[in-house]
Amino acid sequence: MPIWKGCVELVKAAEKLNIVIVGTGYVGLTTGLALGYLGHRVTCVDKAKEIIDKLDRGISTIYEPGLEELLRDSGKTVTFTENMIDYLPEADLVIIAVGTPSKSNGDTDLSFVEAVAREIGQAMDPASPPLIVNKSTVPIGTARRVQSVIKEELEHRGASGNFCVASNPEFLSEGAALHDTFYPDRIVVGAEDIQAFNLIRQMYAPILEQTFTPPQAVPRPEGYSLPALVTTSPTSAELIKYTANAFLATKISFINEFATLAEKVGADIVEVAKGIGLDKRIGPGFLSAGVGWGGSCFPKDVRSILFTGSQYNCELQLVQTALEVNQRQHKKIIEKLQQTLKVIRGSTVGVLGLAFKPNTDDIRESPAINVIRELLDMGARVKAYDPIAREKYRQAYPDQDLVYCESAMDSARESDALVILTDWDEFRHLPWAEIGESMSSKIIIDGRNMLSSEDLIRSGFIYSGIGR
Ligand code: UGA
Repeated sequence: MPIWKGCVELVKAAEKLNIVIVGTGYVGLTTGLALGYLGHRVTCVDKAKEIIDKLDRGISTIYEPGLEELLRDSGKTVTFTENMIDYLPEADLVIIAVGTPSKSNGDTDLSFVEAVAREIGQAMDPASPPLIVNKSTVPIGTARRVQSVIKEELEHRGASGNFCVASNPEFLSEGAALHDTFYPDRIVVGAEDIQAFNLIRQMYAPILEQTFTPPQAVPRPEGYSLPALVTTSPTSAELIKYTANAFLATKISFINEFATLAEKVGADIVEVAKGIGLDKRIGPGFLSAGVGWGGSCFPKDVRSILFTGSQYNCELQLVQTALEVNQRQHKKIIEKLQQTLKVIRGSTVGVLGLAFKPNTDDIRESPAINVIRELLDMGARVKAYDPIAREKYRQAYPDQDLVYCESAMDSARESDALVILTDWDEFRHLPWAEIGESMSSKIIIDGRNMLSSEDLIRSGFIYSGIGR
């Protein structure tokens, strides 16, 4: 019988919880494996049979450092299934972590979230309901919407019940997903019921108190201090998620805008970012100027919060401008190629990096997509290399006629220019002198400001970064 029966004492006494997580994307899979590692009994649910089959065999379906090791370690406590119904009666919590894609108008498509809510309403035992937790990134009001969908389904069954929907937004970033899950800055919980807070606090207790032995693949960072538990209303929790992402995206667009000015006045934006980042009120994070932000979160969430603003007749001008600055940012690469190469048509451009950021194979809204599309449209030949994301890119953009290379060296060979679009660590340690020798002309556009301009210029390259 689920622990969450309205009895706070009982909740405190129990240690392990039965948790069902629906959705095995970055958020669902990472959270599920982490909670399993911490000793809870976790069931990860996904409709896609091929995903469940792979996970069952211990093969990770996404590239994320440490995930496969954890998949092995958590094997005994985590079950993978296509069907959540069998696991609902025993569940203390059901976490919804399915996708929330963008609609063409910027609004968020909640059909996957609502389908899960419906299924829960059709199958849960109203006499002993689990706590429902929204972890998917969802617009304001979704906790209420999920509540009403479940209620509707219960009514169809002639049933009713006291159940609660909490909001527990996720702040993990890809490439560091497990690290961010085990060692978060804060955990935000929005609910209207004290027992919901208690149960979620219990679920995260090993993280809040850091009582677990760190997994080998995800060591505890030195000096890490205990995370805060922020308890709010569901609406504030939902808004916290969007505000955080909109702020971070705006911070990057801000430094990118100043990068343009830095170039014009002859300053170096890397030095400027360091100079302002040391001010504790500003902080050093998210001040790396570059080719712009991409991924499955910032672009989607920025559009979504702009849409919400427009529905309330509340224009979010700063966020709107941050988006516009970002949409222009990839063009800097093309402009710099035009300045150095002069003629793009007929030239060969080596592209280093396809993923939207390093340590992931995710290419969603990667700046590389627009840069490559424009280069191809302008008549360039593109030779692209990415340590991990090549196959995903090839499958997603079969129409883009590129040459996929096996190494950075391969991509540079006989190219007229090289552009760096993802700051993969391996690009820092390339044999640049040798690479330069193999190129038709030694031009490098560093879209991530990751290389030493002095070293490259010394090796005879024409070097151009962003804002330097
Ligand atoms: C982002 C947030 O950082 C997470 O906190 C949040 O949980 C997540 O979205 C989400 O909503 O799920 P993520 O998209 O994985 O995480 O990646 P980030 O590290 O935030 O990078 C986003 C983009 O900004 C990347 O394209 C990256 O290259 C770019 N970026 C980042 C910069 O151009 N400059 C910087 O200084 C930092």
